[in-house]
Amino acid sequence: MVAKETIQKQQTATTKFLKQLEKGIPATEIENLRHILRFHEHRYYVLNDPLVSDFEYDQLYKALEKIESENTSLITADSPTQRVAKGLTKDFPTVQHLVPMLSLDNSYNQEDLIDFDRKARELTRLDKIEYCAEPKFDGGSISLIYENDVLVRGATRGNGLEGDEITSNARQIRSIPLSAAFSRFGIQLIEIRGEVLINKTNFAKYNQQLIEEGYPPLANPRNAASGTLRIKDPLEVRKRNLEAFVYNISYYTLLPGQPVPEKLETHAGSLEMLWELGFRSPQKELKVFSSIDKVIDYCNEYEVKRDDLPYEIDGMVIKTNRVELQDKMGMTTHHPRWAIAYKFKARQATSKLLNVEFQVGRTGSITPVAKIQPVPIGGVTVGSISLFNEDVIKEKDLMIGDRVLVERAGDVIPYIVKSLAEVRTGDETKIKFPQHCPVCHSKLYKEEGEAVWRCINIECPAQVVERIIHFVSKDAMDIRGFGEANVRKFYDLGLIKDIPGIYSLDFTKIGELEGFGKKSIENLQQSIINSKKQTLNRLIFGLGIRFVGQTTAKTLAHAVSHLLEFKNFTVEQLVELEDVGPKVAGSIHHFFSTSANLQMLEQLESLGLRLNNEKKELAAEGNLQGLTFLFTGTLPTLKRGDAEQMAEQHGGKIASGVSSKLNYLVVGDDAGSKLEKAKKINTVKIISEDEFLKILGKK
Ligand code: IVH
Repeated sequence: MVAKETIQKQQTATTKFLKQLEKGIPATEIENLRHILRFHEHRYYVLNDPLVSDFEYDQLYKALEKIESENTSLITADSPTQRVAKGLTKDFPTVQHLVPMLSLDNSYNQEDLIDFDRKARELTRLDKIEYCAEPKFDGGSISLIYENDVLVRGATRGNGLEGDEITSNARQIRSIPLSAAFSRFGIQLIEIRGEVLINKTNFAKYNQQLIEEGYPPLANPRNAASGTLRIKDPLEVRKRNLEAFVYNISYYTLLPGQPVPEKLETHAGSLEMLWELGFRSPQKELKVFSSIDKVIDYCNEYEVKRDDLPYEIDGMVIKTNRVELQDKMGMTTHHPRWAIAYKFKARQATSKLLNVEFQVGRTGSITPVAKIQPVPIGGVTVGSISLFNEDVIKEKDLMIGDRVLVERAGDVIPYIVKSLAEVRTGDETKIKFPQHCPVCHSKLYKEEGEAVWRCINIECPAQVVERIIHFVSKDAMDIRGFGEANVRKFYDLGLIKDIPGIYSLDFTKIGELEGFGKKSIENLQQSIINSKKQTLNRLIFGLGIRFVGQTTAKTLAHAVSHLLEFKNFTVEQLVELEDVGPKVAGSIHHFFSTSANLQMLEQLESLGLRLNNEKKELAAEGNLQGLTFLFTGTLPTLKRGDAEQMAEQHGGKIASGVSSKLNYLVVGDDAGSKLEKAKKINTVKIISEDEFLKILGKK
């Protein structure tokens, strides 16, 4: 537990620095500033419990960057600014591990664990052994070496004896400290083992981005994490937001004359020491037990809650707690005798590949979908599996009639791991990729360097339907009660033929259809009307422009006051927008240069949809343009964040502290030092929330 006083001390220091920003922080404060930044990185990346906003953190980070750029001699390797390497890594040199990185023996049921305990007791000649149980993280293993308190090397497992040196990538993982005070425990050099992961949310986001960009998604978070460790661009590694758990100390040397620290006498103590030094060890997840029965209960408990964890685990690891006993038990050539993995029930199954169907997406992409004999995996029956593109079929050497190995990891979409070519009977047949669209029969094309075949007929009925489905979907215009099935039904019956058709549906005819009562029609009608007020970013996302996901849609919405302004944007101007690369810009440009699309947008506007960006218009009118605001104390009706947002929406800026540059201090109850300070500066106007709302024109 971090003492309350420590948190308060760091918070006071943070506030002090935030206030000093306007005046400029002197270079002498540099080490304190780093200390504060490390404290907040630890709160965010290890404890998952930040104490400052991202904006405040960024301000402090930028301040440090600025001081360091003005005083380059003061830069240290463990400064928070030094995580990002410059340029690409050329090669990952092979390095030797200080101690071989062994794998663990596996167990699958309670008998295996009872057997493990029996052998352990025989080896140690003890009646009872204390065990630790902790999650078995499903990522890529990593070795970290710290010498004189500084991270000097990161390496992958490789073949167990030698791995790739990936220090610059390890530095991108913000739960791995760049320095840690091992010397406090008398340690001079230490090698730590751990697992690098990508959490489920970040994995899903990353896969979504890949799909939007036309690439097949990654199979599972495990592959994503270990693959990322070997990427040669550290900036790309940083973007993937990897996390690291550390779970073993494999080697250490002591400073001259120092005794073995008491904590290192047990596994639980070692993880506690790592936690105290700022690492993310499974300190809270680990439990110590005095008998194997309790270990089994704990493993079962974790198997049940496996899906609720933010990251993937594929089992539990049971370790003998006392290091002295670990040494006594020793190891085989492959694994230690003092630890064992308890693997959860596999989320894999084998099944027969019955057929491959070809689906047409909203951008015309042809996706092969494997139809397999339905099989239950981890509580879900799987019958259809996307194969993404022709290359996947070739790489996996799939044939109709094959037995295939299927995996479904947690929330992850199921995928075919491989075909079991060894058990082929000779009756299997080749999968023929079509040359013509399975729906409109026009010829398919593949762009240079792409893996996806496309139907380029934008009037292809399959594409039209998919575009409408996307437009009404939850993340786009969110038209409740419409849904995929209704879109398909209305389209097949000729009740809708394009996106604007949503707003001129013939409800009398729909009322004659089976399953459409008065109430459901009223609800549908209302949600269609409501959708006309959706924000511009949702509309843009709903248009289904290739490569434009939700984030890019937001960027685009912010860039204009009216959507049709994009008609006049060049590719070069588009590329200047945040996170818009040439490929995305090309696609946006193409969309807004196609007259059918422009006509559709004009039609939507005449039907009452909002193509203008209200926020931007307000800011442009901006009765607060050029004015700075600061809020202090408890406001009578507004939350601080909302008040700040209102000021910004009207073109105002939020100041970081009271200074002569501040125009308005908006004061609520219990205002403290800011108010006192503002009173001393003549130019700062001190106003109430009521007066603030009047300035905004809201009263
Ligand atoms: S201890 C000598 N603890 O599982 C002890 N390993 O085959 C070595 N793993 O690739 C490992 N979570 O990367 C240990 N809590 C945990 C673990 C863990 C995941 C991985 C490890 C290795 C594999 C074991």
